[in-house]
Amino acid sequence: MKLHWIRSAWIGCITILALGCAAATNRPTVPPPSVVDESSVRPGVNALYFQPDALEKYTAVLEGEHREVVQHRDEIIDAIGLVEGMVVADIGAGTGLSTTEIASRVGGDGLVFGVDIVPAFLDRIRERAKAELLTNVTVVLGEERVTALEDASVDLAFMCDTYHHIEYPQTYMHSLFRTLRPGGTLVLIDFERIEGEASPAILSHVRAGKQTVIAEVSQAGFVLESETELLEHNYYLHFRRP
Ligand SMILES: C[S@@+](CC[C@H](N)C(=O)[O-])C[C@H]1O[C@@H](n2cnc3c(N)ncnc32)[C@H](O)[C@@H]1O
Repeated sequence: MKLHWIRSAWIGCITILALGCAAATNRPTVPPPSVVDESSVRPGVNALYFQPDALEKYTAVLEGEHREVVQHRDEIIDAIGLVEGMVVADIGAGTGLSTTEIASRVGGDGLVFGVDIVPAFLDRIRERAKAELLTNVTVVLGEERVTALEDASVDLAFMCDTYHHIEYPQTYMHSLFRTLRPGGTLVLIDFERIEGEASPAILSHVRAGKQTVIAEVSQAGFVLESETELLEHNYYLHFRRP
């Protein structure tokens, strides 16, 4: 009787251990929880966007033809890999340079979240969508550390000249990782920051160069898949959430 009890207990232990191992093996590779004590890597980088005259001023700046990403806007959108019906988050959408064009490409069965931390910019995106009769644009007031979107709610995240404005990149990219559904894509465009080549303005405004950005984004769990050679002063990267 005693022997039978010991044998059952032993089998029970083995089963629990085996189940524990299976659970550990099957668990998706979710990155560690947000780094709550991360300090701002670029304090005040977004402060000017909150000035009273910011909407007028930055509509002209962000939509101006002097920007390489404005000059190549259509090719940039073509290279994203959009498919009708996709759910896309335009992260740091600004005044909506790309938001409405992405919305028209994903069609009525698709959806675009225009995410930004500046309420006045979101108003402009809302107006642009209305003027273009687009019903598939939702503006979202994001936060400095998190996307404010639901987990696994997005097929593709698009970040155009936004990464260098993210003050808490480790925490934010972990949040963005969770926002994407497994297998989802992150398209990241940002300024080339090469000493001796980039302008003094870029060298002082943009915190990190491409290799540092790739390392930081990979640290959050993303895998670099490819690079689109399209722009001279910006790089264009495609990452995947495994
Ligand atoms: C240089 S602008 C680029 C805007 C737009 N992507 C474009 O190319 O025209 C950077 C944008 O990132 C936004 N931003 C900064 N931190 C953010 C955050 N944590 N979440 C969402 N947007 C953010 C800023 O408010 C600003 O609109």
